[in-house]
Amino acid sequence: MTKPTAMERVRYGGRVMGQAAGVITARLRPAVTRVDAAGRLHPSNVMFKVARPPMLEPERSTLERFDLYLYDIMNSPRLQGQIVFEYGTLLRATHRWAGLRVLDVGTGRSTFPAWMSSEGAVVTTFDLPHRAEPRPSGFQARVNSLIGRRSGTVREVAGSMCCLPFADASFDLVTSLSVVEHLDTNLPDRAFVPYEEQRRRLGQVIDEMIRVTTGGGHLYITSECCDFERATTDGWKPAYYYVDGPALAGAWPVRDVPELFYRYIASRGCELVGGVGFAAADIDRADHWTWRGPYFSGFSVLARKL
Ligand SMILES: C[S@@+](CC[C@H](N)C(=O)[O-])C[C@H]1O[C@@H](n2cnc3c(N)ncnc32)[C@H](O)[C@@H]1O
Repeated sequence: MTKPTAMERVRYGGRVMGQAAGVITARLRPAVTRVDAAGRLHPSNVMFKVARPPMLEPERSTLERFDLYLYDIMNSPRLQGQIVFEYGTLLRATHRWAGLRVLDVGTGRSTFPAWMSSEGAVVTTFDLPHRAEPRPSGFQARVNSLIGRRSGTVREVAGSMCCLPFADASFDLVTSLSVVEHLDTNLPDRAFVPYEEQRRRLGQVIDEMIRVTTGGGHLYITSECCDFERATTDGWKPAYYYVDGPALAGAWPVRDVPELFYRYIASRGCELVGGVGFAAADIDRADHWTWRGPYFSGFSVLARKL
């Protein structure tokens, strides 16, 4: 890696201080708490839509005051509310965190597990021994240690999600946010994984997540989808994990999502909370596209193990 220039260092420092100021300012604002009757019925098994993040303002306002990381992704104009949708949908559906045993699969650099633990959940984070997205270090980590709120109990475990090293029924909630689309890449060698093999691995990962969830517990997954027949560009392309492979990936073909996620999970002894509102044809409409570009979207899956 090349050394950052003086100008890049100044910009980085400015960005970190901006986030710190943002967290402090957010804490000074009154929290948004009001959820109307329609909001209480917020759907959990749906495709991203630009109208959804504004409906999750109470959840956004709760998370943004926690630390620099959450402030940034709750407010980033670049992400256009996609992470507000992903994290906010789970918050809206979860009424009590205290005592909840949570497993977060593919944590990367996210501090969302720390937030869940600060609410009283007993959290286990899980990622590869050499995570593809390491946690921030240096100046940002130092500022965050001064400004960020304290986490509660968080245990870190390393391994592959294809074979979770936990006993059956160990967790009340298993989360996996923006992770399974990376099954297009074999890690750590970064070889592209052919689609049929991606599907096989996805089934294996979902089975593992269900296995470690206790009866009556929940599974929450978010991922990405695309109409690859029509998409031509992807704003996320520079962040693809594989080295050689197709021009566009990092998402599930939108028409396969019901079969790969909703029907598959239901067939494995789970019920989809509030039913399924995901409709592949919605990808036709620009108000369902995410910051990645035309014909890319995201979706959420919330299921209860029976
Ligand atoms: C996009 S990042 C995580 C995003 C994070 N969950 C969030 O909420 O922002 C994806 C993470 O999944 C991890 N990952 C990818 N394949 C994995 C596997 N087979 N087992 C465990 N973790 C994996 C990567 O190391 C990376 O840290």
